[in-house]
Amino acid sequence: MIVTGASAGIGRTICERLARRPVRLVLAVRAADRLDELQTRLERSGTSCLSVTTDVCDPNDLDRLVRATVAHFGRIDVLINNAGIDCFAEFEKLTTEQILQTIETNLTGSILLTRLVVPVMRAQGQGTIINMASTAGKHGPAYGAVYGATKAGLIGFTQGLRGELLEQGIRATVICPGFTTNGGIYDRIVAATGKRISPLVGGTTADAVASAVERAIRDGMPELIVNWPAMRPIFLLRDLFPRLGEMLIVKMTKKFLRRAATMNSAP
Ligand SMILES: NC(=O)c1ccc[n+]([C@@H]2O[C@H](COP(=O)([O-])OP(=O)(O)OC[C@H]3O[C@@H](n4cnc5c(N)ncnc54)[C@H](OP(=O)(O)O)[C@@H]3O)[C@@H](O)[C@H]2O)c1
Repeated sequence: MIVTGASAGIGRTICERLARRPVRLVLAVRAADRLDELQTRLERSGTSCLSVTTDVCDPNDLDRLVRATVAHFGRIDVLINNAGIDCFAEFEKLTTEQILQTIETNLTGSILLTRLVVPVMRAQGQGTIINMASTAGKHGPAYGAVYGATKAGLIGFTQGLRGELLEQGIRATVICPGFTTNGGIYDRIVAATGKRISPLVGGTTADAVASAVERAIRDGMPELIVNWPAMRPIFLLRDLFPRLGEMLIVKMTKKFLRRAATMNSAP
């Protein structure tokens, strides 16, 4: 199993959760020194680990990651495209670099890595690809249009892959967490702004997201939205009554997201 962005937040929790069973984990991280303690702990509990320094924006790194995994473990059963960055800011104030970095990290990297992994899974006759999107991909957030676009892109990418590859034994699942505590991005926004999202929007935990990953590996469903309270009814309402649904979503989230935008806006 390959997990990208394993060094922190949700990715780290996913690795810890998966390691409760006998698994062979490939920890793909940008800075290997951030992994030493995690890898040592996982190996002590009996998990076989390989770490590969990988910047998901670098196609050469992705190629090296897949080659190293196949050389070490001989197969790839699961790919978890988890690495991602946030991009909450006033849209006009985003730099070209911030926009490209967000798209390359959150979307292009996952697509390119999947393209390298699919032939391996096809040769095995089976495999599971899990893409970490967000509820931001179900409805683009104010002050997070680019982030939302990358996550909506991951949802569409997963649907397309599934339609093409399911009959060949390769399953693709997209996971859409809401604001996640015990993780990374949301906790940093709360720390920076001192404010939490409205309880009406709610959220989830990194542990719940890791459980969803386990479910996806077991059951291979198309999409899992991880949030409490449940978000599907509000998205359904938005699909049926677009203006009303949009009004509710914006009202419940905009104030918090405007504050989050102060974290990344270039002066
Ligand atoms: N936290 C939330 O509220 C939330 C909600 C919905 C979805 N998500 C999604 O869940 C995923 C994980 O988020 P998180 O909150 O756990 O974030 P996080 O704590 O910031 O961790 C992000 C991980 O991605 C890695 N990463 C970033 N850029 C990378 C690159 N170019 N190449 C390789 N790795 C890279 C980071 O590695 P470094 O340590 O090297 O930076 C880190 O391991 C993201 O895709 C995010 O969009 C998060």
